[in-house]
Amino acid sequence: MTVKPALHVLLAGPRGFCAGVDRAIKIVEESLRRFGAPVYVRHEIVHNKFVVQSLEAQGAVFVEELDEVPADAPVVFSAHGVPKSVPAEARRRNMVYLDATCPLVSKVHREAERHAAAGRHILLIGHAGHPEVIGTMGQLEPGTVTLVETVADAESIQAPEGPLAYTTQTTLSVDDTAEIVAVLQRRFPQLVAPAKEDICYATTNRQAAVKAIAARSEMVVVVGAPNSSNSVRLREVAERAGCARAIMVQRGRELDPALADGLSTLGITAGASAPDMLVQEVLERLGERFALTIEEVVVAEENVVFKLPAALAK
Ligand code: F3S
Repeated sequence: MTVKPALHVLLAGPRGFCAGVDRAIKIVEESLRRFGAPVYVRHEIVHNKFVVQSLEAQGAVFVEELDEVPADAPVVFSAHGVPKSVPAEARRRNMVYLDATCPLVSKVHREAERHAAAGRHILLIGHAGHPEVIGTMGQLEPGTVTLVETVADAESIQAPEGPLAYTTQTTLSVDDTAEIVAVLQRRFPQLVAPAKEDICYATTNRQAAVKAIAARSEMVVVVGAPNSSNSVRLREVAERAGCARAIMVQRGRELDPALADGLSTLGITAGASAPDMLVQEVLERLGERFALTIEEVVVAEENVVFKLPAALAK
């Protein structure tokens, strides 16, 4: 009998599903129960193929735009949030719609609206083209918001005269954002900050947890999707925290366990849209080649739960 080489695995805690993702998936599942299939979903409900495929198997139909949805079918808006024009169009067509926007994204929307109502021009820190950024910009009149993606942007943007405020995407790198904010505050001392951090608790905790394991790991595996902003940030944070190599996989079968040959300690985390089942797949895959010892490194306890929309909670 061949003896498997030993591999110590550090599991980041927290990792995986956040309260906003959990709620969004429940909204689709509960809509399928109430209305029957098909239930349409505008955009991937959360950025994870496994989640999308399992909802499709239950009768969800994913589309990119509202005009692909028949007027008499229920439609769910994804956790990332939508521009105001989307629910307005759904109302105009008398559609039944359910908004799975994460309450922490909605909080940023309301905050942006308050700034606009107070006459402040908004500097939105985020990634161009990400659905959350499209949704937040879509709460505001054109010309009232300027997107800031990088420190270089923060150094060079021209803001209009008058009051200014900043707000951010919820899934950014905590450290990169702090650098961008420092530059903006230096250039625009009157800049109004959010009352409470816009980067959400789940993003913050997952980044702190991956930092805690990265420094002790020779390689970190992030379970997540390349279009999942918070998952991509976890890979970057792991590398910056001193880990020689950080890779991303969507499923256990994507991982070549030979990558861990010769390593003694490997870290694993998962983005906020990746179910824990996929982390178990990665562990099983590694277990085929190595004798694993598993240590969970928990930096924060989470007990956040978001209620379902009133229409489904009854
Ligand atoms: Fe919401 Fe943060 Fe998750 S904004 S969807 S709790 S990653």
